[in-house]
Order: sequence, then structure tokens, then C-alpha cells
Amino acid sequence: MSELLYEKKGKIAVFTMNNPDKLNVITPTLLFEMRDAMYDYMEDTELYCGIITGAGEKSFCAGADIKEYMPFVKSTLDTPWKFPDTIMRGLYVTKPLIAAVNGYAYGGGGEIALACDLRIASENATFRWPEASLGIIPRLGGTQRLPRLVGYGRAMEILMTNEKVDANEALRIGLVNKVVPKEELMTAAFEMAERIASLAPLSIQGIKKSMYYGTEMPLADGLTLENDICKKLYSTEDHQEARQAFMEKRKPEYKGR
Ligand code: COA
Repeated sequence: MSELLYEKKGKIAVFTMNNPDKLNVITPTLLFEMRDAMYDYMEDTELYCGIITGAGEKSFCAGADIKEYMPFVKSTLDTPWKFPDTIMRGLYVTKPLIAAVNGYAYGGGGEIALACDLRIASENATFRWPEASLGIIPRLGGTQRLPRLVGYGRAMEILMTNEKVDANEALRIGLVNKVVPKEELMTAAFEMAERIASLAPLSIQGIKKSMYYGTEMPLADGLTLENDICKKLYSTEDHQEARQAFMEKRKPEYKGR
């Protein structure tokens, strides 16, 4: 059975983790299917923005499947090539990703959300990293991305105390961009995705690349990267089209070139 639904809705790719009876837990199958779908998303020139969510009303993703995934991880620790590239580790997705967090985002589930560029949560969303109660640590980026997003001290507290962070607190500390009622989650995610997809796609990819790599560099190097990316964009058809459209007082038609 497929554990990921991958759909294309106009310019938007939707990735739905699809094992609701098990709260959409992470299994090796899910990771391999997610990897394949991500490559397709990047290669399909008609797709401009992606949304990741979980099937059902209760859970985005309750983390690693404690029964099945953990033995798999153990068996791949010394042979990392057996572990698929994921957005959490090893796979840089060139296009934007929005997490639509519809309930539990625990452990690896929270880390999938952290690996996205933007996060929208439903009012019933909760974030939690229970790894310290399982004798391990977050390994899909939690110890790295959470402090970058919410600050060192607050991240340390969340990870060291196994705190359950509700949607409003997640909003307050910047863990999510927006909180909406449960029934409005996908509408809100699509609205944001459509807005992103209405802008010049190479600019969006450029902003992502510049921030993703640049904010990890010394400022001077980051500024060089930003300049290099923008230099290329000045000679794109989309930039010419945008200027032309401005002068002709019409909406630009971007082609991603
Ligand atoms: N691994 C394997 N199975 C899991 C799971 C996980 N991480 N999280 C949930 N499930 C399974 C449950 O075993 C249950 O299966 P069953 O019906 O065959 O017994 C099903 O999903 C539903 O979960 P349930 O516990 O009944 O739902 P709940 O709403 O009462 O509680 C949680 C939800 C998320 C609080 C609870 O399931 C939980 O604590 N899960 C573990 C989360 C975790 O530690 N994740 C990080 C791993 S590093």
C-alpha cells in the first residue's frame, strides 16, 4: 500500500502522508516514496509550490514508527546509502515547501515540518519531541533546525523536557507562521501556495537558496551568494517580462526562464 499520496493541483504539489490509522508514522516505505515524489516535484516545470500534510483529522505525523522504523535506522547507521535522501537530511529541495500541520507533529513528524520553508498549523496541532523518553535524540534535524527557528534556549527546553507545544505557543515562538481553525487549514495552505506560485518562480527559488545556504555562512559570503543569485536573475526572461508588464500596466506572465 502506498503510504504517500502525491497529487498535482495546478501549480501546487500536495504530499499527503497517508497512514491515518497509525497517525501517519514514518516508515522506510514513506521515506522512499517521499524521496521519489520530491524528485518529481523538482523536475516538473509546471509545479511551483508544494504542501506537505497528513491524512485524517488527528495527526500530521506522529514520528518514527517505533516498531518498524527504528530497527531500519539501526541497520543503516553504518551504511548511510541505504537510507533514502529526505528533506530532513541529504535532499535540498529547490522549490518551496509548506507544512500544513493538522494535529500531532511528534518526533520525526515535527522534523518534517521543520524541514519545510513555511508552517501553517490547525488549532489542534501539537508539536513534541519525545526522543529523550525513548533513549535516543532527534535525528532528522530537530536539534539543528529547532534552535535556528525558535532560539537556543527555548529549543533546549522543548527537547530536554519533552514539552507538548500547542499551536498558539508554536505561533508565539515562531515555530509556525500561522494558526487557523482545523477546517480552514488546507484552504489557508493553498492560499499561501497560490500566492507564492503567482510570483516569479526563479525568484522564489532564489530567495530559498539564498536564505537556506546564505544564513549558514559568514555575512560577507552570504551577501556574495545573494548577489550571485540576483545577477543571474537579471538576465532571465521573467525579469524582462516583469519590467515590460509594469510599463504596459498589465499582469506579468512568468515562464520560469
Ligand atoms: N510508532 C508506531 N506506532 C504508533 C506511533 C509511533 N510513533 N504513534 C502512534 N502509533 C500507533 C499506535 O500504536 C496506535 O496503533 P494501534 O491502534 O494498532 O494500537 C495508533 O497509532 C493510534 O495511536 P494512539 O496512541 O491510539 O492515539 P492517541 O491519540 O491516543 O495518542 C500519541 C497519540 C501520538 C500521543 C501516541 O500515539 C504516542 O505517544 N505515540 C508515540 C509518539 C512518539 O513517541 N513519536 C516519536 C518517535 S521518535
